Amino acid sequence: MSFPSTAAEFGNHLMVQLDQLAALSESSEYLIRRCFTPEHRQANELVGRWMAEAGMTVRTDEIGNVIGRYEGLLPGAPALLTGSHLDTVIDAGRFDGMLGVLTPIACVNALNQADRRFDFAIEVIGFADEEGVRFQSTYLGSRAIAGTFDPLLLERVDAGGIRMDTAMRGFGLDPERVGEARRQRDEVLAFAELHIEQGPVLESEDLALGIVTAIAGATRLAVTLRGEAGHAGTVPMGLRRDALAAGAEIVLAVEERCRRGEKLVGTVGRLEASPGAVNVIPGAVTLTLDLRSPEDALRRAALADIKAAIAEIATRRAIDVTVEQTHDAASAPCAAWMQSQLGNAVESVCGRVLSLPSGAGHDAAAMTALTDVGMIFVRCKGGISHNRAESITAVDADAGARALLHFFRQFRMES
Ligand code: GLV
Ligand code: MN
Ligand code: MN
Repeated sequence: MSFPSTAAEFGNHLMVQLDQLAALSESSEYLIRRCFTPEHRQANELVGRWMAEAGMTVRTDEIGNVIGRYEGLLPGAPALLTGSHLDTVIDAGRFDGMLGVLTPIACVNALNQADRRFDFAIEVIGFADEEGVRFQSTYLGSRAIAGTFDPLLLERVDAGGIRMDTAMRGFGLDPERVGEARRQRDEVLAFAELHIEQGPVLESEDLALGIVTAIAGATRLAVTLRGEAGHAGTVPMGLRRDALAAGAEIVLAVEERCRRGEKLVGTVGRLEASPGAVNVIPGAVTLTLDLRSPEDALRRAALADIKAAIAEIATRRAIDVTVEQTHDAASAPCAAWMQSQLGNAVESVCGRVLSLPSGAGHDAAAMTALTDVGMIFVRCKGGISHNRAESITAVDADAGARALLHFFRQFRMES
């Protein structure tokens, strides 16, 4: 595939590449690409090829991130990192994550075509896992780079009973060496991520782009409820230990608690009852909770209340309950100087700058453990995301690329 030679072609070029990447799916019915699968490998290979064509040296690191490096004027210069994730949710759109990998590759290609290098290198990263779909553990790729990967995660099993370390070996990685993906602070200048907004604000403001102020913190739980399976026709209502009825109460308790605070959202995204037959009282349930707020204190208070509600519901219904915390991330601020430089870039394209917080999680949040971060948001249709209907226009993709290119050209280290 040939790269664009003028900025006006960025948008169409990106849309073609996004379609090619979306074809790499574990399902023929919808887009799903989880970490350490053959489709993850294919995505790394395709993206790696585009990186090489854009003038970058390409490698896969010890967690399976694909990384392209566009060298600075002096070899070995510290790097401005950019990128986003290549994994997807189930029945995903084609922009969440991928746009933030492909856009900087197109920008680097334009720099390479113009023979333009800086006193810093640019590294584009396609992170291996941000969504956490396979192992219920988000930010695997960025945490490994930031040096906050928890080795206990290697024992996690996926829905098919495959351990993470086994899946990594199947992918050609050595799980013993994940620690080597960690980057040193002095070889990194900052991290900039471009991502679709996944919300409706930019559309309502009639703006193609915006700047992120901070990324909401999140906690995820896996809750297991054990009651007693029984005959749906013979056990009187008052003598039942129905795990699904308890789960339903928990879903509503989460909704009620989170409706109390404007800056709080809570979701039970998965609930499975077993044995799952029309004439059997459900004996066991597993459900997940995802709780988020831009303010950590609000999230912690809601978490305590929800845990108390789960305990109360379980006791009252004589249900055994276990609650496992599968993810916890504090809210992450974008550095003021990165907001300012990215804001200048956005202003040069859109004429004005809107700053907004991110309710969604992003690799940039994990990267704050390593370096200062900043984010550009690109408008998406109806604010719809984590849905196959996710959509952006080629014109907005083009605007994002031009802003990112401006940012690269003007970037100077501050702190
Ligand atoms: C990632 O997309 C998340 O916010 O769950
Ligand atoms: Mn996502
Ligand atoms: Mn994302």
